[in-house]
Amino acid sequence: MPEQLFLALVVCCLALVAAGIWYWSARHRVKTHMDPRVAEADAREQAARAMLEAVAEHTDDAIIGVSLGGLVTAWNAGAERIFGWTADEFIGRRIVDLADSSGVAEQYEVAMRIARGEGNLRYESRRFAKDGTPVEASLSVAPIRDSAGEISGAAVVIRDITAAKEAAEKQRAIEERTHQAQRMESLGKLAGGVAHDFNNILAIIVNYTDFAVEEAAGNEALSDDLKHVRNAADRAINLTRQLLTFTRGDTIQPQDVDLNEALAEVQAMLGRTIGAHINLITVPSADPVTVFADPGQVQQILLNLAINARDAMPDGGTLVLEANAAALDGGELDMQPPLPAGTYARLLVSDTGEGMPPEVAERIFEPFYTTKPTGKGTGLGLATVYGIVTEACGSLNVYSEPGVGTTFRIYLPLVTSPERVGAAVQRQAPPDGAGRTVLVVEDEAVLARVVTRILAGGGYHVLTATGGEEALALFRQHGCDALLTDVIMPEMSGRRVAEVIHESRPELPVLYMSGYSNGLLGTTHVLDEDIAFIEKPFTAHDLLMKLGEMVVPGLPVSPAPSASSAPALSPAPSLSSAASGAQAANVERTTVS
Ligand SMILES: Nc1ncnc2c1ncn2[C@@H]1O[C@H](COP(=O)(O)OP(=O)(O)OP(=O)(O)O)[C@@H](O)[C@H]1O
Ligand SMILES: [Mg+2]
Repeated sequence: MPEQLFLALVVCCLALVAAGIWYWSARHRVKTHMDPRVAEADAREQAARAMLEAVAEHTDDAIIGVSLGGLVTAWNAGAERIFGWTADEFIGRRIVDLADSSGVAEQYEVAMRIARGEGNLRYESRRFAKDGTPVEASLSVAPIRDSAGEISGAAVVIRDITAAKEAAEKQRAIEERTHQAQRMESLGKLAGGVAHDFNNILAIIVNYTDFAVEEAAGNEALSDDLKHVRNAADRAINLTRQLLTFTRGDTIQPQDVDLNEALAEVQAMLGRTIGAHINLITVPSADPVTVFADPGQVQQILLNLAINARDAMPDGGTLVLEANAAALDGGELDMQPPLPAGTYARLLVSDTGEGMPPEVAERIFEPFYTTKPTGKGTGLGLATVYGIVTEACGSLNVYSEPGVGTTFRIYLPLVTSPERVGAAVQRQAPPDGAGRTVLVVEDEAVLARVVTRILAGGGYHVLTATGGEEALALFRQHGCDALLTDVIMPEMSGRRVAEVIHESRPELPVLYMSGYSNGLLGTTHVLDEDIAFIEKPFTAHDLLMKLGEMVVPGLPVSPAPSASSAPALSPAPSLSSAASGAQAANVERTTVS
């Protein structure tokens, strides 16, 4: 009997539950059916979700979901565009795979802060795309919380600011250049005023001293004293003359001057005086390089630069004087003052001396700026060079690295003969890179980006590294069809990078680039003599031509220069014959600095 009672109770309970469920679902059905507001709200919510998804999908920024363990859980189309990985490829991978070792440490730090509940972390850092291209990124990271309010991951928004950073850097360089030009202008005015007043005072001193010398005839002691006064006045006259040259207040007699001849004269002069510890090399151009200038002043430029070079090499070294023609595209940022695009006559003076740090190099053209001990230098040598060059409507720049050496480049308007004009017009278009992979190694990040952009624009696929180790890692991972490397880099030289790569790919073409002149690097054996070389600064056209000659088969070979124009370079045995003639070509152009 109690069993039957229990059974009846269970049945009753089940019936009650069933009735409840039926009632609840019927009510919900009726409510939804009957109440259009609920249906509308549902539809609105769905539309809002779809819109949010579309916004996330179509934004230019990368929107990435990351789990607390650092695995990628969401990857929008912006992320695909910026990094080159598809969502299928990257969801499930570690977010740190986008960074290098310094970025990895930084990401762990950010993950810890997010896990602790910090929100909206914003910072800038470098990430890398699938093909190794660096991406300058602005990141914003916020925690994602689940319905219980617990942190379950992070939402990362990454904006690619590579182009904006480049533009800002360029703008900064332009402002710096303008500032420098203004400083030189006001220094010029100041120095000009001082020199003018000094000349008047010195004229009085010199003339009255001469009168006194006449009067003192027979009085040896007095004559001797007056001679000292006269000598000191002469030195002062010399100084003011240099100052006037800087301010362009000097009288000059310009005429056609062949830089090759000027080089030969200065070589004869220096050969006797510069000292046996200096190995003096001159590299004239194969053709005459004519400028319209005062011949005495051209000599003065070369002598001032050569004397500075000698002073920078107290224990000996190599001094190379070169003359040639070079093209500028007008966009160069290191020229003082800026020059419009065109082909110019150029003098290069390079040494293997102590070099100078950037803060010294920035000020060397200012009058009276010297790092030499008192009595050893007046600081007027380069100010004079600057004055002469700008007076002749030219410009100059300097490339220097402490402990390695210095190259000064002087650009002067070229007096062109009709043949020369014709030759300049016939410019061959560079060949298309056809997707060939170039591994670029350049420790200066801004320059690395410029080179990457030029090569990508020329149809190459580019892998960029800012150091030797990184380059070798990229090479092992992706391989390449050519190596374009800086010569002097802090950790591993370009030559060493090439050597390691050649162990597995001996035939791989290598193009070296450097701010030092090819004459200097070749003659001082920083590089072997049989290398392909392009001198910084170079134009996009020159780089693409030079690289194309090496890696694109069937390209006509550039005419090999005469021995005098490219003394240090001869064909590399490891390269194809089409490339080897071109390697010897003297690459003397401008833009990327
Ligand atoms: N080739 C060089 N290598 C290293 N430093 C250099 C070189 N040329 C110039 N400098 C630096 O630039 C400074 C300015 O040079 P500048 O020729 O104007 O004056 P100076 O040589 O010191 O004196 P002055 O030429 O009047 O006797 C030098 O003191 C030196 O620090
Ligand atoms: Mg000097």
